[in-house]
Amino acid sequence: MKLTLAIAAAFATVALAGPAVAGPGEDLAVKEKCSKCHTEKTTKKGPAWASVAEKYKGNADAPEKLFQALKKGGKMGDEEDHKKVTASDADIKALVQVVLSSK
Ligand code: HEC
Repeated sequence: MKLTLAIAAAFATVALAGPAVAGPGEDLAVKEKCSKCHTEKTTKKGPAWASVAEKYKGNADAPEKLFQALKKGGKMGDEEDHKKVTASDADIKALVQVVLSSK
């Protein structure tokens, strides 16, 4: 009985130790160093993701458009050679959701 409790406690600790909300999209953003040019709220070299989200608000094609842009790289707006993301389609889509849900 005591042992069971100890094991349960250990699992609970592991679960709590992880980042609270980070998913595959956030992980990918970190791995791909998007933050070199973007943050959620402030304009650096690239636009703040919150402003991208605002720009595409209500645009049903936005997720697909940004997904393709990130997957293929190359020209994006005025950026001639935007960073290309090498990851699974599902992870890139998750990353697009992170961008589009920024506020
Ligand atoms: C070397 C700098 C740089 C890096 C690294 C970078 N970006 Fe960008 N990004 C830009 C610039 C500059 C623009 C603005 C292009 C424009 O709209 O003229 C941009 C635009 C965007 C846009 C908006 C496109 C639109 O249609 O308005 C998205 C979304 C985006 N980047 C996502 C990402 C993601 C996700 C990553 C990480 C995988 C990333 N960027 C990494 C420089 C960068």
